[in-house]
Amino acid sequence: MSQKTVLVTGACGEIGQALVQGLSQQGYRIVTTDLMPLPEAIAGCSSEHVQGDLVYRVKQFYDYDFDVIFHLAASLSSKAEVATEEAHRINVEGTMQLLMLAAFKSERRGRAVKFLFPSSIAAYGFASLDEKRRAGRVKEDDYNTPHTMYGCNKLYCEKLGLYYSRYFGQRHLDPHPPVMCDFRSIRFPGLISAFTLPSGGTSDYGPEMLHHAAQGRPYACFVREDTRISFMAMPDAIKSILALVDARRERLSRTVYNIDAFSLTAGEFRQRALKAFPGAQVTFDPKPRRQGIVDSWPEDIDDAAARRDWGWEPDYDMDRFFDEYFLPEIRKRYKTPK
Ligand code: SER
Repeated sequence: MSQKTVLVTGACGEIGQALVQGLSQQGYRIVTTDLMPLPEAIAGCSSEHVQGDLVYRVKQFYDYDFDVIFHLAASLSSKAEVATEEAHRINVEGTMQLLMLAAFKSERRGRAVKFLFPSSIAAYGFASLDEKRRAGRVKEDDYNTPHTMYGCNKLYCEKLGLYYSRYFGQRHLDPHPPVMCDFRSIRFPGLISAFTLPSGGTSDYGPEMLHHAAQGRPYACFVREDTRISFMAMPDAIKSILALVDARRERLSRTVYNIDAFSLTAGEFRQRALKAFPGAQVTFDPKPRRQGIVDSWPEDIDDAAARRDWGWEPDYDMDRFFDEYFLPEIRKRYKTPK
């Protein structure tokens, strides 16, 4: 079988770096793009890196023949609230340009370009904390009323992906419809890596607290102790992307899937941090705007469709996340004694 060529946008971000490593182990030819130069850790995995603003770079990618586009570049939820227009440009314009590329190439070569799009729990939105608590585990199509620019952008791009892969130009109504692109999306919970830190997101309090504690640095958490959302280990996020991209299309009953691993409160994060690093100094200093964002996100996620359609199952529940992934890796990284 010939080597598959893939494009990874946002390759220098948290998911990007981990995904590029995962794809490289699977033998893909990887073209990367990002505003930044590639970090040393993944530079050897990329056969070509295009540095610059994606929105202005997409035209150049018409010369390539990608089998899969992993479109990770985004402005995350907290950052997007302070630069809304810029976030819309990056999150929506960039996605739209790449979807047009995927649609054009699929039609032209008569073979679907796969388009993998990370969406987010930010696509949900609750009217109140009471409603969030009553809702419990949410399914994909419930409470799709995001409160943030980032959430609006993600939800809209999920719809754009469906449009370009099924209804583009109403071509599906032709007697012999052309091949359309193959859009697949995962709504991620908060992600935690032992190797990188997020920037500009709102679930960042989880990873920030743990990384600070591991380094013996004090941390003031910007949400209340009782704040609960779902989180996932980065290796599971990469596993899910690789599994969804490989899933047979006829098995997929949807284009957008929830996935889940474990749900915990900020207070429980603190307890875990204290247990692992007894000197950790974690205080709570909620910031109303960021608190409001997390209060609008679900406590827990129903991922039954992903489990049924493409066999999704996380490797790391909460205990395994701390004991077998995060703590051993972070201790090595910061050389923290046990
Ligand atoms: N983790 C992201 C954020 O906090 C949500 O997908 O913005």
